[in-house]
Amino acid sequence: MIKDDFNKFEKRIAVTGGAGFIGANLLLYMVPKYSQYLFVNIDCLTYAGNLLSLKSIESDQNYRFEKIDICDYNAVENCINKYDITDIIHLAAETHVDQSISNPAKFVATNICGTFNLLELVRTKMEKRRCLRFHNVSTDEVFGTLDGPGKFTEESPYRPNSPYSATKAGADYLIRAYNKTYGLNSIVTNSANCFGPFQFPEKLIPLVIRNALAGKPIPVYGDGLNIRDWLYVEDNCRAIDLAFHNGLSGKTYNIGGRNEIKNIDLVKRICRIIDDTHSDEPGEPREKLIAFVKDRPGHDRRYAIDPSFIETQLGWQTEYSFDDALVKTVKWYLNNLEWMESCINGRYLKYYEETYTNR
Ligand SMILES: NC(=O)c1ccc[n+]([C@@H]2O[C@H](COP(=O)([O-])OP(=O)(O)OC[C@H]3O[C@@H](n4cnc5c(N)ncnc54)[C@H](O)[C@@H]3O)[C@@H](O)[C@H]2O)c1
Repeated sequence: MIKDDFNKFEKRIAVTGGAGFIGANLLLYMVPKYSQYLFVNIDCLTYAGNLLSLKSIESDQNYRFEKIDICDYNAVENCINKYDITDIIHLAAETHVDQSISNPAKFVATNICGTFNLLELVRTKMEKRRCLRFHNVSTDEVFGTLDGPGKFTEESPYRPNSPYSATKAGADYLIRAYNKTYGLNSIVTNSANCFGPFQFPEKLIPLVIRNALAGKPIPVYGDGLNIRDWLYVEDNCRAIDLAFHNGLSGKTYNIGGRNEIKNIDLVKRICRIIDDTHSDEPGEPREKLIAFVKDRPGHDRRYAIDPSFIETQLGWQTEYSFDDALVKTVKWYLNNLEWMESCINGRYLKYYEETYTNR
């Protein structure tokens, strides 16, 4: 397709990190919904990016994939020119807190310098042509930890405690500065911990499922009493969609499901759901596999999001109850073990080579 043909699409949206957990769910939600937009998935396929997640849309006329590292300024610029990109939804990031503790450099490179590259491209090349929307998908972890009973609002100060959250905060600050200084048309959404299909099995919920099925110890940090506020990924995708289209430039929107739960209680619930689905198998309850391990350094005690602003301003609400979404999620992994194993055994990269490199 030549560039003019891409111009038949009303918007040409670059979605960075579209092969990751939230990015894939967002594309699976938005590509069929908006046939008038072109979606260009820019992802360099780190261990966390799996194109098998996007199999159902890979041949859609309004979807393209480009294997590009956002730290490579020239490659991103070529891609933006090739498709005449009009908007960016930015999700590409290094995201695992434990890895940010052992290797913070790559978090600074992707999360800060990669974001800076995108912003510079927008400032110097794209905004001259049109008013572009830059939507940054960020996290509640930028606010640090809650010790008392309150919740994070859009006015809460940033107090990141891990290299991961510090680099996400750095990116949010850059976006704020580009909005204030250069008038960038920007939106930031800070969401709670997400769960749902297609999450790499290093993260808590798929890790618990994988270990519980394999009869391996299920590691729980510290005393297990850390509290997270969980959000079903599809509810986050609908919030991103709303904020991208209707959010006010320069605003940030907190997205949370009002589902606070202690890690240990969450792990036990997952074990019970798996026990129930395997009730014909004899054996000990899977929660016997729980093994408390040394706490993560700087481990935040509690996160809780107040989503009132996006609810009142944009009319967003969760569609899923936490219990229903958790059962749905666990069953999805039980029915998609092959996908889960493809993340671990490198099959996701072979799929990319077989499917895309000869195109
Ligand atoms: N998962 C959550 O609970 C959660 C909650 C709030 C915010 N977020 C934010 O949402 C975004 C997506 O999170 P996720 O859980 O889907 O992450 P993920 O780790 O599952 O996926 C990240 C994706 O980014 C890609 N990527 C990484 N570095 C890249 C680079 N240099 N160039 C191009 N692509 C690169 C990876 O290949 C992968 O496909 C992140 O910005 C994260 O901070 C996540």
